[in-house]
Amino acid sequence: MKILVTGGAGFIGSRLDARLLDAGHEVVAVDDLSLGSREAIAPLQANPRFRFEPLDVCGPEFPKLMASVRPERVFHLAANSDISKSSADPSLDLSRSFLTTFHTLEAMRHAGTRELVFASTSAIYGDAPGALDEDHGPLAPISFYGAAKLSSEAYISAFCALKGMRAWVFRFPNVVGPNLTHGAVLDLVRKLHKSRTRLDVLGDGSQDKPYLHVDDLLSAIDLAVQHPAEPVATYNIAGEGSTTVREMAETIREVLQLPEAEIVYGTGNRGWPGDVPKFEYDTRKIRALGWRPLRNSREAVRAAIEAEALKCKRSS
Ligand SMILES: NC(=O)c1ccc[n+]([C@@H]2O[C@H](COP(=O)([O-])OP(=O)(O)OC[C@H]3O[C@@H](n4cnc5c(N)ncnc54)[C@H](O)[C@@H]3O)[C@@H](O)[C@H]2O)c1
Repeated sequence: MKILVTGGAGFIGSRLDARLLDAGHEVVAVDDLSLGSREAIAPLQANPRFRFEPLDVCGPEFPKLMASVRPERVFHLAANSDISKSSADPSLDLSRSFLTTFHTLEAMRHAGTRELVFASTSAIYGDAPGALDEDHGPLAPISFYGAAKLSSEAYISAFCALKGMRAWVFRFPNVVGPNLTHGAVLDLVRKLHKSRTRLDVLGDGSQDKPYLHVDDLLSAIDLAVQHPAEPVATYNIAGEGSTTVREMAETIREVLQLPEAEIVYGTGNRGWPGDVPKFEYDTRKIRALGWRPLRNSREAVRAAIEAEALKCKRSS
């Protein structure tokens, strides 16, 4: 299948490109490299079925590219992934997390591409209590990022209803793995690797969220897209258990072999304004398809810490 991946040089996008190539697909990855990097896709460049286009999805060249490639399916991942930054600037997620979706849908419509896989997020649920299933509502995001992703879901629904498209929407939890571009694991490992003696943590460490290894996320997506969308299928994805920021910080100290380093916590249970300190998913829908993740939350976090620590060691 001919597939176009937006955000294809990012953390999840680059891993997805590799997986799609391994499955025999032809992949065109688009990324403006605002958060992604050429380094992330360097190992793929030799593959004749892979092509990289350094473009802004909201720019004039993108619809032309979509029209010339005419992919059968688009995986839309391009977005702002720095949620803490966007809490200070409401326009950031409007342009980078919502308009990227709108322009992707428009380019697909003109090119005649009908299938979309969308990277949504738990942030659309806001600060809702209990084990959240896909039908939970009303939805009240508390970050501009969550609002832009929820608006994206709404536009996807309307495009599917009016323009004959079909879409699989995946509400990711916190995803971790090798080649992170952002997030608590990356920030904390780099901070402690640099300071060696002190680790400053945002919030009081009690934030408690499900983390999922990127390979488990991609195996869930692989499986779900084999089932019909009719016209929109929405899935919450999460593995077993959750991890607190305190557990994460302590594991980082252990993996970096700096047992004497002091962990200094902030105040309040949010890492930044708009941070949802705790959430839980009901994942019966994706599990009913037979999906089972290989790592639980704690194992996923440890694997990501080890990979980032190794990267820091090699580059120092
Ligand atoms: N990593 C997570 O924990 C997580 C959780 C929930 C949802 N998501 C979603 O998954 C997707 C991938 O996230 P990620 O963690 O790989 O983040 P990432 O920042 O590594 O990837 C996003 C990519 O999109 C690119 N991009 C941004 N704006 C663009 C534009 N206008 N045109 C072209 N490229 C653009 C960036 O350069 C980056 O490479 C995003 O949509 C994100 O919102 C991620």
